[in-house]
Amino acid sequence: MKAKDIVDKYISFFEKRGHKRIANSPLVPQNDPTTLFTSSGMQPLIQYFLGEIHPQGKRLVNVQNCFRAADIDEIGDNRHTTFFRMLGNWSLGDPARNASQRDAGGYFKKEQLKWYWEFLTKEIGLLKEKLYVTIFNGFNDISKDNESLKIWTEIFEKEGLNANERIFHYGADKNWWSRAGEPEKMPEGEPGGPDSEVFYLFDVAHDKKYGKECHPNCQCGRFMEIGNSVFMEYQKTKDNKFKPLPQKNVDFGGGVERLLAAVEDQNDVFQTSLFLPIVKSIERVSEKDYRSNHKTMQIIADHLVAAVFITAAGIAPSNKEQGYILRRLIRRGLDNFYKLEGKDIKTILTSIVDQYKETDPPLLVDFEKIKLTIIEEEQIYKSTLSRAKSYIEKKYPSTGSEQVGDEIKGVRKILSDDAFILYSTHGLSPTQIKSLGFLFDEQKFAEKMKEHQKVSRKGAEKKFRGGLADHSEKTIMGHTATHLLHQALRDILGKHVFQTGSNITNERVRFDFNFERKLTDEEIKKVENIINEKIKENLPVHFEIMTLDRAQKLGAIGLFDEKYEDKVKIYFIGNYSKEFCGGPHVEFTGILKRFKILKQENIGHGQRRIYSQVFD
Ligand code: ALA
Repeated sequence: MKAKDIVDKYISFFEKRGHKRIANSPLVPQNDPTTLFTSSGMQPLIQYFLGEIHPQGKRLVNVQNCFRAADIDEIGDNRHTTFFRMLGNWSLGDPARNASQRDAGGYFKKEQLKWYWEFLTKEIGLLKEKLYVTIFNGFNDISKDNESLKIWTEIFEKEGLNANERIFHYGADKNWWSRAGEPEKMPEGEPGGPDSEVFYLFDVAHDKKYGKECHPNCQCGRFMEIGNSVFMEYQKTKDNKFKPLPQKNVDFGGGVERLLAAVEDQNDVFQTSLFLPIVKSIERVSEKDYRSNHKTMQIIADHLVAAVFITAAGIAPSNKEQGYILRRLIRRGLDNFYKLEGKDIKTILTSIVDQYKETDPPLLVDFEKIKLTIIEEEQIYKSTLSRAKSYIEKKYPSTGSEQVGDEIKGVRKILSDDAFILYSTHGLSPTQIKSLGFLFDEQKFAEKMKEHQKVSRKGAEKKFRGGLADHSEKTIMGHTATHLLHQALRDILGKHVFQTGSNITNERVRFDFNFERKLTDEEIKKVENIINEKIKENLPVHFEIMTLDRAQKLGAIGLFDEKYEDKVKIYFIGNYSKEFCGGPHVEFTGILKRFKILKQENIGHGQRRIYSQVFD
């Protein structure tokens, strides 16, 4: 069974149980200022957990490409990868709280846990004796998940297994899920809930370094998490409290790479049939073996796979946002590759695309472009390294000054201040600096780094707070404004103009579209006037769910992936705009009061960006 077979079996298992398949969302989110990458299947669905109606109904299933930047430093073990495919199934609204939803087919814990067990043991044939589960132990006013305990107990007893030995109980640090993490970390308005995870036990010895006793959440690598059912039924309120969401949701996610490891009973993800050919190509070009270099090769394989997917999403290496993460991945991958004295990464890139082309055909189509981008970054990196080297060589001539410049067997001691300049100006990590042969006071460097991180974390937190779960009225207004802007631009510039992305915070609305030149002041004024006119008319905003065919006949505009969805949701603003959209929106345009364009930018590839603001 290959990775693709697991995906196909999962999708069809849930389709048979009334789920509609939805498309894999872009790896770089189109309209979510809170995050750089899609990092779980539920992320593009957030508004539907809060009550928006999904055009495909209440039961959804898909496989989502995900990237988790936070895991970069964890790479180098048997199970972590930054890029992975997440199998997801969802129930948007449980019958228990809203009678009218009963017929529409929501479900909750009982169905979810039983179905996943059935999928694991019947569809992909995992041995039941290898499976263990965890449940939520309670937190403040939210009680222990006795319902899941009962369901799992029944499942295990029916299978002739001892439930007490199979069910483990953990607190909110392990068995609670939200986009922001544990309950305390969630901002007001954010949905979340207790979860129940399934673990696969490998037949390997426990490593006592990680604790006396092994258990599912032990980090020794004996257990691997292969699925997480989140019961998303709470919403954070003020003062660290929670209230029930208007509906109870199920949000399930399971990593394909890990399920494959379980199916193959191979406790190292990098040795499964998905990764093995990639690792073999690293062994070939470096003429080193995996056994003695596994950590280094795990990092190379992981980072280059992620780099291929991020490049395929249209990102180029840079010093900002997604481009910065891509740069870090490529450079860290190369550092490890150079450590093995590897020279040519092209062969590795080819083997990556070979392994993923069946599930992600665009990788093959764009391969030349992807390869070129990564190789170009390698060239830039090489010249950065040589510039950094000459910076140090100039400052510390090899004759050496008595205090810091003394050269010992090709290793040179430098001041931590200079090491920090190599980090902050030349973009080199401490490991990269050391690999150039420069030694420095690491403790002093770490102190400087801490200070630096404090400042940048503050920026990140601000960004996170500003947008996360931000269904504030102002953001919703901004969202409605993008529909007006989209239509007004088409009215003034022509029907060939369409939106290529947007990013809305409660402070401003960013809107990208294809257009070949700068807009004149007069055009900007005209666009603003139309929108302010529509605001004054106080047009009603409503949605209708219809077939794709009908939406196209009506001339609805917007970004839409027609791969799987047969029903679509169209938002109407009076008779003025019809657009594919999930929502949410204001009910009347008059709520916006006024709209203003702040500036325009050329963002390359024939695209322009407009920053604007709405006033309430
Ligand atoms: N959203 C849940 C996760 O990412 C399923 O683990």
